[in-house]
Amino acid sequence: MTAHFRVRGDVAVLVPAAGMGVRLGPGAPKALRLLRGEPLLVHAVRRVALAPSVGCIVVAAPADAVDDVTVLLSSIVAGETCVAAEPALVTSGAFDGSVALDGSGALDGAGASGGFGAAPGVRLIVVAGGASRQASVAAALAAVPDEFGIVLVHDAARALTPPELVEAVADAVRGGHGAVIPVLAVVDTIKQVDNSGVVVGTVDRSVLRAVQTPQGFRRDVLTSAHAAAVDEHTDDAGMAEKIGVAVHTVPGSEAAMKITRPFDLAVAELLF
Ligand code: CTP
Ligand code: MG
Repeated sequence: MTAHFRVRGDVAVLVPAAGMGVRLGPGAPKALRLLRGEPLLVHAVRRVALAPSVGCIVVAAPADAVDDVTVLLSSIVAGETCVAAEPALVTSGAFDGSVALDGSGALDGAGASGGFGAAPGVRLIVVAGGASRQASVAAALAAVPDEFGIVLVHDAARALTPPELVEAVADAVRGGHGAVIPVLAVVDTIKQVDNSGVVVGTVDRSVLRAVQTPQGFRRDVLTSAHAAAVDEHTDDAGMAEKIGVAVHTVPGSEAAMKITRPFDLAVAELLF
């Protein structure tokens, strides 16, 4: 099966990729760790760029790796590239208006890397990330060109997220929701424990959801949410909730799993 999408290009995607990956163990920053021979960040950006709504990708890279990341990502963008100094800018050549995704696995999840071509028509900007995920997202948000009214935030660590999930989140924002998150049902029983590890109670699982990225926002919502944030949040929708914005949910994807620990990386290797 082959799916054809019409290009809209009205969406900018922020990709926080400046974390160290402490839980993954010693090695390079997590976004630069290899999965089937390619950095997680390359997998993530390649899939985001295949979503036809996406016109711009802003990557928050480790501060000492901005140049390396720019070179790395230039190789997955088709057409002529131009690399600026700060922030790094990579722009591809003309785009023909449509993308065809081969059905060899890309449509329902991880897919074979061979099923993805280069991504023409998408502008890439690379900025230095910050000390926290929130600071990295803020740095990327500040670099979004004026013309983009919809902004998604997508963890580089969710390297195998299918382009269709990016489209679904963008569509929901375009349809009128100020904030949109992909979610999955929680499969484990969840218990609350006290400081000594003794169970306090069992939480009603039916009302819980595990939250993924990309999370999508009307640009003004994300800007206001970040401006108002006084403490650290693990996701951007949490900041939108704090300023009273209703957060809409769409079905997530198991392929959008976050690669956090060595076990996750091993699972991701098997998903190809
Ligand atoms: N991230 C970031 N800047 C930071 C910290 C995290 O851009 N200062 C990014 C990570 O690169 C990742 C995403 O935020 O793509 C989600 O964070 P997480 O999975 O926690 O990654 P790390 O912080 O790298 O991992 P750890 O917490 O195990 O160190
Ligand atoms: Mg972290």
